[in-house]
Amino acid sequence: MSASRHDPERVIDLDLVRCTENAALAAWKHFGKGDKNLADFAASDALRGMFQLIDCRGVVRIGEGRKDDAPGIFAGEKLGSWRDGSIPAAIAVDPIDGTTLTARGLNGAISVLALSTCDAPDGDPTSLFPAIPSHYMEKFAVGPKVADSDVRVQLDAPLEANLSIIAGQLRKRVRDLVVVVLDRPRHETIIENIRNIGCRIRLISDGDVAAAIAPSLPNSGIDAYVGVGGSPEAVISAAAIKCLGGQQLCRMWPKDASERRQLLEAGCQEHDIGRVWTVEMMAPGNHVIFSATGISDSPMLRGIQYAGGHCVTHSVLMRARNRTVRMIEALHDLTRKTIRLYSTGQEMSL
Ligand code: FBP
Repeated sequence: MSASRHDPERVIDLDLVRCTENAALAAWKHFGKGDKNLADFAASDALRGMFQLIDCRGVVRIGEGRKDDAPGIFAGEKLGSWRDGSIPAAIAVDPIDGTTLTARGLNGAISVLALSTCDAPDGDPTSLFPAIPSHYMEKFAVGPKVADSDVRVQLDAPLEANLSIIAGQLRKRVRDLVVVVLDRPRHETIIENIRNIGCRIRLISDGDVAAAIAPSLPNSGIDAYVGVGGSPEAVISAAAIKCLGGQQLCRMWPKDASERRQLLEAGCQEHDIGRVWTVEMMAPGNHVIFSATGISDSPMLRGIQYAGGHCVTHSVLMRARNRTVRMIEALHDLTRKTIRLYSTGQEMSL
């Protein structure tokens, strides 16, 4: 694979870390203070503000889910400088995955962003990161060793069969597997099945982007992520899992007959609703870049820490093309660090 001297991804990628860092730091100002909308607004404002300094013509393909009226960044929004000649890019973003966790001061919140450019400079970025019309998707995420196996996990296979494939590939006993599931009434049967099979479960109250990525990270202690979560979150995790060589199988999950009817009325066919999406379908192409910064501790990243005039952020930056994963620990000097806000056009100190 030959490296281009003018690789736009190399120019942009560290700035994406600045975006998620700033969003996480802005969210931190509201950590544990009970107002998730204020935290979401602050993180979105900081992320938009940083994006104004990035030379690209970005279109948000995946933004805040419409399942709640959060003040986030929504699909269709333009981000970047939009200077003539700057590169077109598709963006999938969640300034805070885990707004409730942030408002309640709990672990598991991250700020997260994926960006993809086209192969050709005049390509159409809207073909990247598909907009999934359902609020939720069924998800099954595994790491690279399982994804590479000759025997594949399948969304429709019995859980026991899938878990036994995972155990075989990871050379573990089934009972030693750790599976993450969102703690929701809709998962009662899955949770009971996993417990009957004998695996360990980590129930999380929110934040399934980090949970779905965790099996693909070395030493996360998580072997699989199973269950139904947000569709925008599914596309964002797919971008990261692709960079790590893992797999995530997903399918639209209309939550009731009325949502199914709405999907059909909006032009979805039954076979669209039943389609199984892989990471390649959700994050196509070779130019996917992913950045996330921890707000609070998660299996993926440590959260923000303040100490002696500094604060420390932990981020991960990855590219699909080379599968390089950079873990970035940044020290921010509180007397100098500022965050550019979109709403005021001013720099805000921490
Ligand atoms: P927000 O940060 O937007 O609130 O999303 C948190 C989250 O837990 C996601 O990680 C997950 O995909 C989704 O909500 C699950 O939705 P629900 O809470 O409706 O079950």
